[in-house]
Amino acid sequence: MKNEVQNKDRQSEKLPELLELFPLMEKLSDYLQKTGSLNGVKVGWHCHLTQLTLLTAEALVAGGAQLFLSECNPATSDIDAIKSIEKLGAKVFTGEDSPEKVLAFSPQLLTDTGFVLTEKFLAMPESRRPKSVLAGSEITTSGIEKVRRLTAEGKTLPLPVVNINAGLLKARIENFHGVGDGVVDLLRKITGRSLSGLNMVVLGYGPVGAGVAFHLRKEGGIVNVVDTDPVRRLIAQFDGFSVNDCLESLKSANIVVTATGKRKVIGKEHWQAVRDGAIFMNVGHWPDELDLENLNSLATHSVDFDFKTRRYSIPCDVKSEKKVYVIAEGNPANIVLLTGSIEPTLIHLTTESLCLSYLALNASKLANGEHLVPYEVEQLSSRLSLEALGA
Ligand SMILES: NC(=O)c1ccc[n+]([C@@H]2O[C@H](COP(=O)([O-])OP(=O)(O)OC[C@H]3O[C@@H](n4cnc5c(N)ncnc54)[C@H](O)[C@@H]3O)[C@@H](O)[C@H]2O)c1
Repeated sequence: MKNEVQNKDRQSEKLPELLELFPLMEKLSDYLQKTGSLNGVKVGWHCHLTQLTLLTAEALVAGGAQLFLSECNPATSDIDAIKSIEKLGAKVFTGEDSPEKVLAFSPQLLTDTGFVLTEKFLAMPESRRPKSVLAGSEITTSGIEKVRRLTAEGKTLPLPVVNINAGLLKARIENFHGVGDGVVDLLRKITGRSLSGLNMVVLGYGPVGAGVAFHLRKEGGIVNVVDTDPVRRLIAQFDGFSVNDCLESLKSANIVVTATGKRKVIGKEHWQAVRDGAIFMNVGHWPDELDLENLNSLATHSVDFDFKTRRYSIPCDVKSEKKVYVIAEGNPANIVLLTGSIEPTLIHLTTESLCLSYLALNASKLANGEHLVPYEVEQLSSRLSLEALGA
């Protein structure tokens, strides 16, 4: 397949000019400095290395934490953000072996995205594991699935791990509103069009997919939900969405969003079924929800556009071709392109930071295994957020 590149020069992402209108990170910083809970605490942090991570790192460092960061997904890493985080005195590692490099610094607390850092820690022979590690936390659905798989296999977690994803704030604010709003923002930026009256298919009706469906409908989209779980399909039906067959709805889809956290949910038969001009994006954690290997093998030609969008040409019959657009090579598009309002992500990063503060004070009292994020942490995060909103 031939690939042309247009508009190669992509700008690095910028924070909003009037960030001061939502001073949540200042409030977090004040709180951490006042309590001193993270003073001198070494934190291993596996995360998206973005401008919003930088803001959080500033608050954590002001609160006395020593940070060691590893790269969660190279596609979401912002080089300017990395340089600024390093200027704070934090160590930032990129590349596949970055979690191992973080562990070599003997962190006391691990805070994870996708349970990658903690998994590397667990994979080390017991004699070589850093003894410093007291506890960890995990923020993603996909990471928590790994924790549960371990338990199902009869293995025990040799440390307490707080499940931030199961908290009310992560599910309702970040997963639901944050991602949904980000998808709408991204589609407007890319197409410049109104979304009213366009046919949309959302795959996966967990908190993330439900939020995407809600926000797309708010913009006038005609949304069809696809989910393999009948419980989620029933909920979608009662939320007022149609729940038709996937292949059938793809035939008329203008926009397709995957939010399942599963691999290759869109494959050959889907690429073949979809209508000409359809835009695909993934917002699930793993980059391979869309089977792009397969799309590459079907396509005769592809062209790169701005906003990390690639157009593929697929033969339909002997004479004609159809166009299919894929955003951010299947990586979580709202994170790669930093779209959507900043509040949900900053609120979630605040909860993650306050969870570290909680663990620094309480890790020794917690039993090993999974713990639900304490409600007091969510209440504190909400209080600071409401203050920042001026509410
Ligand atoms: N992009 C972001 O900013 C962001 C933010 C939070 C979470 N996430 C990620 O989004 C993903 C979804 O999160 P969630 O909390 O909604 O997860 P969830 O597990 O609650 O929901 C996923 C849904 O997908 C359904 N599903 C699984 N396979 C399917 C298939 N082949 N076709 C259709 N449906 C299928 C499941 O039945 C389930 O209802 C996870 O990978 C999570 O880590 C992304």
